[in-house]
Amino acid sequence: MEKLIIIGAGGYAKSVLDSIDYYNYEVAGFVDEFSSNAEHLGYPILASSLEEVKNAEQYFYFIAIGNNRHRKRWHDRLKERNFRLINVVDKSALVSQRATIGNGCFIGKMAIVNSKSVVCDDCIINSRALIEHGCYVSDHANISTNAVINGDVRVGIGSFLGSCSVTRGQLKIGNWVTVGAGAVVVSHIGDHLIVAGVPARTIRNCDNGDEFI
Ligand SMILES: CC(C)(COP(=O)(O)OP(=O)(O)OC[C@H]1O[C@@H](n2cnc3c(N)ncnc32)[C@H](O)[C@@H]1OP(=O)(O)O)[C@@H](O)C(=O)NCCC(=O)NCCS
Repeated sequence: MEKLIIIGAGGYAKSVLDSIDYYNYEVAGFVDEFSSNAEHLGYPILASSLEEVKNAEQYFYFIAIGNNRHRKRWHDRLKERNFRLINVVDKSALVSQRATIGNGCFIGKMAIVNSKSVVCDDCIINSRALIEHGCYVSDHANISTNAVINGDVRVGIGSFLGSCSVTRGQLKIGNWVTVGAGAVVVSHIGDHLIVAGVPARTIRNCDNGDEFI
């Protein structure tokens, strides 16, 4: 049994804990830089940084942080140290044998990743999200609950697609884009934009990378 540390003792950890492969991993506890609690969801909060974890290299890790920039920051720290990250794929998710999944990804309940799609590192494919055939989801992206991206869509680095949004096939969504809940994306979207509505229109730029999840 491998010992697993979860980074981030917040709400998203509830979904992650529910989908972990407990045949192979035993949760040792959390690392959280902000929480002052002793425990979260029945597991101890071990430390606020990797430096405080004794024999840190012996563990496997999963980053349960919804915000794409914060998750990326932790991902970079773990990579720098060559620490081992796992994927958490719920057993109800359908991932095509012809899909490629990177490292440190979450694929939630009843999510579908279809044939010839690529989900890169540190991505969230949340409950019931649909990644249709041939899509490319870049590092640190977050495809929210029930969002649909149709065939051959490319999602840029760190982009956040809100709950129940629909993206028409063959489109490109830039880097660090936020797509509002329920939006229908019918044209390419440039980098660092927040779009919302039906059809999706730009609300404003988001150069500071804030997301509104
Ligand atoms: C689009 C979004 C990012 C904008 O957040 P925000 O910048 O705080 O936006 P505001 O609440 O200030 O609204 C700005 C304007 O956009 C409109 N708007 C906001 N969200 C919208 C949405 N999803 N669809 C349509 N219009 C929206 C508001 O009505 C407002 O319009 P107004 O200026 O005419 O009054 C946010 O509302 C959103 O949809 N977040 C995604 C949430 C989500 O899916 N979470 C998933 C968790 S798994």
